[in-house]
Amino acid sequence: MVAPTEVRISLFQSARWLQPLYAEVQSRLAEVIERGTFILGPEVDAFEREFARYLEISHVVGVANGTDAITIALRAVGVRPGDEVVVPSFTFYASVEAVLAAGARPVFCDVDLETRNVTVDTVRAALTPETAAIVAVDLFGSPAPDLRELGPPVIEDAAQAAGASLGGRRAGALGDVATFSFYPSKNLPCFGDGGAVATADDAVAERVRTLRFHGSRDKETFMEVGYNSRLDELQAAVLRLLLPRLGGWSEARRRVASLYEDAGLGEHVSLPMTVSGAQPAWHLYVVAHPRADALISALREARVGARGYYRRPAHRQPALAPYVSGGRSLPATEELARTNLALPMGPMLERSEVEAVVAAVGEAAKRTR
Ligand SMILES: Cc1ncc(COP(=O)(O)O)c(C=O)c1O
Repeated sequence: MVAPTEVRISLFQSARWLQPLYAEVQSRLAEVIERGTFILGPEVDAFEREFARYLEISHVVGVANGTDAITIALRAVGVRPGDEVVVPSFTFYASVEAVLAAGARPVFCDVDLETRNVTVDTVRAALTPETAAIVAVDLFGSPAPDLRELGPPVIEDAAQAAGASLGGRRAGALGDVATFSFYPSKNLPCFGDGGAVATADDAVAERVRTLRFHGSRDKETFMEVGYNSRLDELQAAVLRLLLPRLGGWSEARRRVASLYEDAGLGEHVSLPMTVSGAQPAWHLYVVAHPRADALISALREARVGARGYYRRPAHRQPALAPYVSGGRSLPATEELARTNLALPMGPMLERSEVEAVVAAVGEAAKRTR
């Protein structure tokens, strides 16, 4: 086994799993440049069809990024200025910022300590007669539970979960409408910014198409104030090349999580649990420990990448202070924000590296006692 002091294992392994494809990407990009169509052309059309087929859903609409995708999806399901939208605080800030960009008011809900995801009960506790939608984040690549029994439309924020599934349905087909980010570190990345909205609802898809292009279908008549938010042809070409690899990469991420378990990681830290029936596509492998920050420092000394996520959850962000109601406490969010740490994860992580990380975590946990 590699001694912890010799390891050099980064948190994200993007260069490692994407680099072998660079030559192919370059030649696809050259073809698109040669064609000379850069906005809403054949690459975006084809990617939308191919990703819809992968998700087994009728519509995918490419947009500029995962934040716009949420804002546009919220408006497309009928959220109006002043409406309330229930959203977890333990998520990337953009899940909440997008609610405000749609003119709505975020109402924060808690998550489950073990799955780190919202539950039917944490969301129900935040519902009011003004609730117009729920944002269910598939956090760290692990699908949130089905919330549709609660009534309001569910926007599945699947930014971190491309390649995951729940009960045989793909992440991206679990809510009334779903949103993706293709930011370069994501499970299905592009080489810049990109995003998409997925839905089975024809009317919602049509509204998303209109909203992404300034509220117009024909570039002549502007029916409502929308956005300039399009996936571009170069990014769509990259995504078409990478999409066929997503299934294999997601399997590999699950295999790495099993290797962590087999190597005894759970003896040192709390491992992430999943919702029943979920096949996660671990975007981040996030464990918990009461002295997470001390562990992170010790791991970095041992040259193992580690970092805490959302140490300041959304409801504690200065910009969101006006939207925090005094009454509701978010105990699991507060605890996870303090205790979580992400460990290296990627489709090409090898058994010996996983074992070296586990040895380093064990060593670090002993030292920080
Ligand atoms: C859960 C979540 N939602 C939304 C976003 C926003 O995506 P983007 O950076 O593409 O706007 C991200 C990504 O960074 C995310 O992790």
